[in-house]
Amino acid sequence: MIKRLEKLKQGDMSALLELSKEIKNCRKCEIAKDRTRAVPGEGAEDADIMFIGEAPGWHEDQQGRPFVGPAGQFLDELLALISLKRGQVYITNVIKTRPPVNRDPLPQEILNCRPWLDRQIELIRPRMIVTLGRYSMALFFPGKSISRIHGTTQKRDGIIYYAMYHPAAALHQQRLREIIKADMIKIPQLLAQMESVPEEKQEAPPQQLSMFEI
Ligand code: URA
Repeated sequence: MIKRLEKLKQGDMSALLELSKEIKNCRKCEIAKDRTRAVPGEGAEDADIMFIGEAPGWHEDQQGRPFVGPAGQFLDELLALISLKRGQVYITNVIKTRPPVNRDPLPQEILNCRPWLDRQIELIRPRMIVTLGRYSMALFFPGKSISRIHGTTQKRDGIIYYAMYHPAAALHQQRLREIIKADMIKIPQLLAQMESVPEEKQEAPPQQLSMFEI
């Protein structure tokens, strides 16, 4: 509540809306010409937790909203496990436009979209950023492998970073479903504990995405 009032004073509510409008008009990448809608992100403007996925898919491109297809249904289920609804968190993606035929985002597309994501983080000021999948993880845990670091945290600049598998991975690999749920259930306790934990230094510079496993 205090955070919301502080933000209102600073005019951040309108700044986030303004930012979403700018994102919708962005045409830096070639793929912008083929999209139905850009997908800036949605949720609480004072969210404590921000979830960052990879890129919009077909459903997201149609609706202009993040995680509204099958992966999004699982994300909603995961949120319910910790008694949250999507309106209480903020959900966005590394890139805000659907790549054609759902191909992987290109390095240049990730670079072009990075200032949008950075600005969203600045305005929302979440206490925890949850990376969903390897593209999002690569931005905040450079050089790490998802199979090693999922379910673990790092604290930097007052933000707790937490890596999880992408919810879509559970749609293809049943064994990951329980792992993803177990990682989700840890979030409330980690949030409570980590506030008092000292910060760590970032170890390695960002690596080529192709070097990461899924
Ligand atoms: N997968 C993502 O990474 N983001 C979405 O918004 C939907 C599916």
